Amino acid sequence: MAEIIDVITENTLNKAALVIKEGGLVIFPTETVYGLGACAFNPIAVAKIFEVKKRPYFDPLIVHVAKKDDVEQICAYVSDNAKLLIEKFWPGPLTLVLPKKDIVPDIVTAGLDSVAVRMPSHPIALKLIKLANVPIAAPSANLFGHLSPTKVEDISEEIKEKVDLIIDGGKCTVGIESTVLDLCNEPTILRYGGTTIEDIEKVIGKVKVLTIADKPKSPGQLLHHYSPRTPLKILRNEIPNIPHNAKVGFLAFKQPEKNLPFDAVEVLSSSGNLVEAAANLFSSLHRLDKAGLDIIYAEQVPEVGLGCAIMERLYKAERKEK
Ligand code: TXA
Ligand code: MG
Repeated sequence: MAEIIDVITENTLNKAALVIKEGGLVIFPTETVYGLGACAFNPIAVAKIFEVKKRPYFDPLIVHVAKKDDVEQICAYVSDNAKLLIEKFWPGPLTLVLPKKDIVPDIVTAGLDSVAVRMPSHPIALKLIKLANVPIAAPSANLFGHLSPTKVEDISEEIKEKVDLIIDGGKCTVGIESTVLDLCNEPTILRYGGTTIEDIEKVIGKVKVLTIADKPKSPGQLLHHYSPRTPLKILRNEIPNIPHNAKVGFLAFKQPEKNLPFDAVEVLSSSGNLVEAAANLFSSLHRLDKAGLDIIYAEQVPEVGLGCAIMERLYKAERKEK
């Protein structure tokens, strides 16, 4: 089991930065979810990320930078739209896909000529990248196809054993991964996330949304992503048909009006607030997944703002391949 740093000081973060510089793996908090990071310029270190996550090599990683200007270090062309979005949303949960420079190893981008880049807003993430003095390539710190962790306790033991160091920064405030926006051609949302499409459109106008019906350009759109192990079914204004003797969980958006006959209930936001619901989504799913249930029923949330990102993850969990 890797050492866990839970006292955050210049000294302990320097130690983590050294691990990154020397080609090791560090799990660190971001405002969205925990990342499993390595030096983005070190192809061998990055290869270890794929191994530890059991992630297919065709699924490219996000490169995290600590300053807005550092986008120039790894991207060959930063369009006017990109500049506007960086000004408005960085640091924060928006990942931009832009043409890459040769300095970014192919393993990071799965051989694509574009690279995904974001500047996280979490102070620990920013400090770690600054001290390491290199961009950090990091996917979410979960096994491929599993739920992203929003706190250290939700990281699987298998991953904890294989990394070099873990920084515990408490619970991630956004709780859902960053929005991925491809700016190489017509602006296209590849993954809904912590920055809403409404807010993006206020800055650059109408954007396209690549749906799961389209061929996945972002392999994160594979149907089996973001899945709890327990089967999940979204309730579409119907009464669930509960099999006899089944242990059933319920993922509620708001506080239910009456006591419900479920074995476990998780409420995403008692007041029905989408920001709070997004922040709690993965930790609630993790708890339901550990409750030994046969099925989880999930209430729909309104598909506006962060509700789009929440529903996208629930659709994928529902449709996962068995
Ligand atoms: O919030 C987040 O984005 C978290 C934290 C750790 O930053 N990271 C994260 O990384 O969710 P990951 O690897 O789980 O998701 C990255 C997504 C994947 O869907 C991947 O396919 C897509 O970004 N992606 C990365 N590079 C790409 C590229 N060049 N073109 C298209 N999609 C890309
Ligand atoms: Mg992920």
